[in-house]
Amino acid sequence: MTLLYQEIANRLHQYIDAGLYKTGERLPGVRLLSQQFGVSVSTIVQAQRQLENEGTLEARPRSGYYICERPWIKPDLPSASTPPQRPMPVTGQELSLHLARVVNQEDFIQLGAAVPHASFLPMRALQRSLNKVVRNYDNRAANYAFPPGLPVLQQQIARRMLTSGERVRPEDILITNGGHEALTLALRTVAQVGDIIAIESPTFYGLLQVIDSLGMKALEIPTDPQTGISLPALELALEQWPIKACVLIPNFHNPLGCLLSDADKQALVKLAHKHRVPLIEDDIYADLAYNAERPRSLHSFDPQQVIYCSSFSKTIAQGLRLGWMLLPPPDLERATYFKYVTNLAAPTLSQLSIADYLEHGGHERYLRQVQLQYQQQVSLFARTLNKYLPEGTRLSQPKGGFVLWVELPKGLDTLALAHRMLEHKVSIAPGCLFTASTKYTNCIRINCAQPWSPAVEKALISLGHECLRLRP
Ligand SMILES: Cc1ncc(COP(=O)(O)O)c(C=O)c1O
Repeated sequence: MTLLYQEIANRLHQYIDAGLYKTGERLPGVRLLSQQFGVSVSTIVQAQRQLENEGTLEARPRSGYYICERPWIKPDLPSASTPPQRPMPVTGQELSLHLARVVNQEDFIQLGAAVPHASFLPMRALQRSLNKVVRNYDNRAANYAFPPGLPVLQQQIARRMLTSGERVRPEDILITNGGHEALTLALRTVAQVGDIIAIESPTFYGLLQVIDSLGMKALEIPTDPQTGISLPALELALEQWPIKACVLIPNFHNPLGCLLSDADKQALVKLAHKHRVPLIEDDIYADLAYNAERPRSLHSFDPQQVIYCSSFSKTIAQGLRLGWMLLPPPDLERATYFKYVTNLAAPTLSQLSIADYLEHGGHERYLRQVQLQYQQQVSLFARTLNKYLPEGTRLSQPKGGFVLWVELPKGLDTLALAHRMLEHKVSIAPGCLFTASTKYTNCIRINCAQPWSPAVEKALISLGHECLRLRP
């Protein structure tokens, strides 16, 4: 059965083939098309996304859809990973502090850290909430908000989690200083110095830093750029090693962008249950699905088996430093105590402001809009990288979020590339940061949440030139 949006996509295709809309031209806006075809705006949006996916249309941020000059043949996906099959201490992460500092230098094109440019964040609505909180500054705002955190924020988070099918009691939510602290507290609660922690490979380098800071060891599990962690490989590892916890990013993984299917999520919690190993879920990108459907969390399959961690850093503002976590009862008490002895409390003003923003700021509307923007950004960056990077380059095809994983031809040293790019005032994240092993030295991660401009395109062109200079 052909769905309505597919029918519209077919008709648009015919118009393009018939020369009604010419190569390089802008497709009329969604409202006009919805009137012309007599269908809803969301049907037009779906049809446009289909045409974009098949390479007929190209999205340009804040401008609309354009008819492609030539069909966009997507490059191959990066290969599924094959990390060493033994636990390893994490080393060499100091380099990422250098990348982090670049974020604050305004003259840099920031393609390194996975941090959205402020223009993608709901700044106006957030500013209104911040002003309100500062205007009403009173004893409550001046005080510590001791763990688990402020009830107004716990309530707003519990309400939001309802929209993704999770029934959580507000008092069971532990507010943290961002997702990074949530991961630290989760690991401290269930594991100790020297313990083995199973993770995806490659993985977000902040997680490797947490493992390093706690003196634990990383056991990297093969991961596919589309379907996520290999469950057979994880099962084998669980049989072979005394793994104390497994930390995963099942929804729009950083850096791969992949999404674990519901069937695999179900199988994963069963496997963890069988081996009595806690799963720690980092769900920070789940609100950034390109198809606007929030995927299910692992936690929703078995709240007793999963410690859930998330944060507002990717969808509200990273500088407010707020995240949250959910743990089964005895772990919740331990983690709450660890939170208290680490830094007493999460910032009160941030908690009050985010609670007000979530209640009044139109967050759902904002998410709908930014999901589309990120899909367009990632598509535009992918096409541009494909144009300028050497032949044989492979690119991830994320289903949500705003980063791209790029596998350059073998032997191309991306650490040297990252240093060269700093001379162009461009930061990129070299692949060596995403592992405790010596893998991914020919990979980079690109942050696409940067407003498109001639300077950004120039940065990608220079990236291509530097690759050619470094090519073995
Ligand atoms: C997957 C993932 N988890 C956690 C974090 C940490 O975020 P926060 O700023 O909330 O500490 C990041 C930030 O880049 C991330 O990408």
